[in-house]
Amino acid sequence: MEFVDLIQMRRSVRSYRAPAIHDDLVIMLTAAQQAPSWKNLQASRCYVVESPEALEALRSQALPAFNQNSSAGAALVVTTYVRDVVGFTAGKPDNEVGNGWGAYDLGLRDAYLVLAAADLGYDTLIMGIRDADVIRRQLNIPENEEIMSVIAVGKGSKAPAPRARKPLGEVTRFI
Ligand SMILES: Cc1cc2nc3c(=O)[nH]c(=O)nc-3n(C[C@H](O)[C@H](O)[C@H](O)COP(=O)(O)O)c2cc1C
Repeated sequence: MEFVDLIQMRRSVRSYRAPAIHDDLVIMLTAAQQAPSWKNLQASRCYVVESPEALEALRSQALPAFNQNSSAGAALVVTTYVRDVVGFTAGKPDNEVGNGWGAYDLGLRDAYLVLAAADLGYDTLIMGIRDADVIRRQLNIPENEEIMSVIAVGKGSKAPAPRARKPLGEVTRFI
C-alpha cells in the first residue's frame, strides 16, 4: 500500500477482537524509534502491557469506563517522556516551550507507532483520558517521567467511518 493511502485508512478503533502479538509489537516499536527527536536524545519511553492480568488491572483501574470498553481485547502501550531533558541544556529550558518539546518528540514517536501498526495490519486507539497516578503505581514508572497516553493495539472488530478533517486552508497559511 502507498504510504499516503496508509495514512488515509488509519482510524482510531474502539472495538478489538485480539491483541497485537509480541513479535509484531517489537517490530512496530522498533520502527517507531526511527522518529526524529531533539538532538537525538530519544527521551520517549513506553511500557508494553501484554499479560492478561496486568491488562485487566490497568484497564479496570486506570481508564474511565468508555476507554475500558473501547480498548478491551487489545494490548496496551503506556507512553511517557523523561522530563527536563528534551529542550533543556544544563537543567534550564532552551526556550519558552520547556517540556512541551518532550511531548512533541513523544507525539512524533507515537505517530510513527500507530502508522507502523497500521502497516502491520493492526488498529490502534490513543487514549489521553486516563489516571496517571494509578498507571505510575501499577507499572512502577519513575517520577521523572511524564505519563502521556495509553495506546490500544490490536486487531479491530469494527471499521469506523473516517472522521472529517478541517479544510487545509482553515488550519494552514501559505506565505
Ligand atoms: C492525544 C490524543 C488523545 C486521545 N484521547 C482519546 C481518548 O481518551 N479516548 C478516545 O476514545 N479517543 C481518544 N483520542 C482519539 C481521537 O478522538 C481521534 O484521533 C480523533 O477523533 C480523530 O479520529 P481518527 O483517529 O479516527 O482519525 C485521542 C487522540 C489523541 C491524538
